[in-house]
Amino acid sequence: MGIEDLRRDYQRPALDPNSLDPSPFRQFSTWFEDVHSADLPDWFEVNAMTLATADERGFVTARIVLLKGYSEAGFMFFTNYDSAKGQQLLENPRASLVFYWPHVERQIRVNGSVTKTEAATSDKYFHARPRGSQLGAVASAQSQPLADRQSLEQQAAELDQRYADQEIPRPDYWGGYLLEPDSLEFWQGRNNRLHDRFSYDLEAGGKWKITRLAP
Ligand SMILES: Cc1cc2nc3c(=O)[nH]c(=O)nc-3n(C[C@H](O)[C@H](O)[C@H](O)COP(=O)(O)O)c2cc1C
Repeated sequence: MGIEDLRRDYQRPALDPNSLDPSPFRQFSTWFEDVHSADLPDWFEVNAMTLATADERGFVTARIVLLKGYSEAGFMFFTNYDSAKGQQLLENPRASLVFYWPHVERQIRVNGSVTKTEAATSDKYFHARPRGSQLGAVASAQSQPLADRQSLEQQAAELDQRYADQEIPRPDYWGGYLLEPDSLEFWQGRNNRLHDRFSYDLEAGGKWKITRLAP
């Protein structure tokens, strides 16, 4: 079968506007927890999301990162501040997130402004990670050219020795970002491509306006 013949008809029940929560954060939580609490294969990462960023010229790149927390304050992820995405966020602090959960035929899109999390938040998460992940984060000049794998492993091994029996300090170049949304969209696959889409847009005064969008 050729790629052009690959298609699925989505069969899920309607996303009823009356069932939508007035708060996009609670709506996100309902959908996220639905998937999170389900009995799914180990390889499935419910918190994996696409993060799209753009530089000052408007050139866009996207990659997967892991959501590490969400609240009314925003959506949090951790990375290397000197990475390509970090550089782009410095030039242009707008970003988009996309979640796609195929087994429930749902997509969530989130657009907003990004700021660095407080140092204390980054410290707490950094030190909660396994030691190997901490070493990996410190050893890797993320997004920079690397001569070979050996030099990366050697760097991690040297750090391991240097901090033997000690806490590894979080480097300044690694930490969290918080995306504070001003629009979100909830998409539910339906049959015959007549999907349900609802957009939440932040209005002056802090109220969220909900609009049905054509699929
Ligand atoms: C499932 C998955 C989860 C990932 N999680 C993260 C993450 O939380 N933080 C991160 O910096 N990179 C993560 N990555 C790696 C990024 O996709 C990307 O390769 C890296 O951040 C460098 O991106 P950049 O060069 O655009 O900055 C993950 C990749 C995958 C496939």
